[in-house]
Amino acid sequence: MPDTKRNQADARGVPVSACQDESLDDYEVALRQMQSYFGDPTETLAKTLERDPEFVMGHVFNASAMLMMSERQYLPMVRDSLGAAEALADKANDREKGMIAAVRLYAEGRWDEACVAWDRVLADYPRDALAIQCAHLTDFYLGDALNLRDRVGRVIGRWDESVPGYSYILGMQAFGFEECNQYAEAEDAGRAALAIEPRDPWSVHAVTHVLEMQNRYHEGQKFMRDRVDDWSPDNGFAFHNWWHLALFHVEQEDFAGALELYDNEIWVDDSDVSLQMLDATALLWRLHLQGVDVADRWKAIAELWDRKTPLENGYYAFNDFHAIIALLGAGQVAEAREVFADLERAGRENPALTRMMARDVGVPASAAVIAFAEESYGDAVDYLLPLRSVAPRFGGSHAQRDILTQTLIEAAIRDGQAGLATNLVGERLVHKPESPILRRFASRIPA
Ligand SMILES: [Fe+2]
Repeated sequence: MPDTKRNQADARGVPVSACQDESLDDYEVALRQMQSYFGDPTETLAKTLERDPEFVMGHVFNASAMLMMSERQYLPMVRDSLGAAEALADKANDREKGMIAAVRLYAEGRWDEACVAWDRVLADYPRDALAIQCAHLTDFYLGDALNLRDRVGRVIGRWDESVPGYSYILGMQAFGFEECNQYAEAEDAGRAALAIEPRDPWSVHAVTHVLEMQNRYHEGQKFMRDRVDDWSPDNGFAFHNWWHLALFHVEQEDFAGALELYDNEIWVDDSDVSLQMLDATALLWRLHLQGVDVADRWKAIAELWDRKTPLENGYYAFNDFHAIIALLGAGQVAEAREVFADLERAGRENPALTRMMARDVGVPASAAVIAFAEESYGDAVDYLLPLRSVAPRFGGSHAQRDILTQTLIEAAIRDGQAGLATNLVGERLVHKPESPILRRFASRIPA
């Protein structure tokens, strides 16, 4: 029989209930895989749980990791892992019970309440790296910029460089600063994280966001290219960092360069990952707005989204919005309207939070792109203009949601609303005075 001990702790001193020593070692591997996106943590823990089925945190970790994929298709597996963890509740310690409660809330669609539950765990166990990361990713899915910064800020004082994985916490703080427009603090934290651990794609990503928001596109390209071996090969987050690099190309009107990255790095034939598909879709739409012919790429990406219909419809409005764009791009208006109808239903019937996300942002944003595709540009403007202040509520980053503003500017131009288009371009010129793509927009505003 393997040795089983009680009152153990993980590498950060967070208490863990009875498990085999090897299971804790595996947990550290899985945690590092989740933090770095190198390797598959659920695969790692699948073997662990075969050997040590009473390892509560193994079940909690697997459920959490699958929830962070932001897709309904994983819910049956989440429920299996959650059920296994709950069956062990009488053996679980308080921290583990708190983590189980958070997973249950998230699985019930109460994502905001899950974040509160993780906060409660962190009040007693501020070095619970899994709680921090899950809450951070959920804050991202909710577009909650303040908590992207402050939830990490509440605990980072309890960490330092001697604690394993500290750099990843710094990297999360960097992204939180960036989403709160604190670019200097964000860049400092991101670069400090990379000085400790260069192979940290999330910290690379945080710095890249700063370079994007400050329109430092030449520097951004160099930053990413110089360290490409640290964030790209065999990395589960690489597609998103490649997407950011493609944005630097789009910014300079290098559309061929962006498409080359799309074909070689961002697009995957049989991808089943919504996060990857939405980045691919968003890049094609940005190019489409510039009048670039993306050929049959729309058809291919629409086919991938089609495969997720109707299961995923209404689960996460941010995904649905991108599915609708891809289907419109491929000329599949009827299919796009089917997703839209399910999104509208989610806006009436989902649990409170995801209902709000669908109703307040997903539906009007999707109505806008449908109107745009039907060349009803005035309607697209009418949908998008009031959305500007509430758009963060359906998740994503500033950079991702910029698709809404770019669509709005283009719709205003095509509808002949010169004053509005001039103001929208002017607003961006304050932040990006040297922007080639902005000059391109400006040059097309009707006199
Ligand atoms: Fe990003």
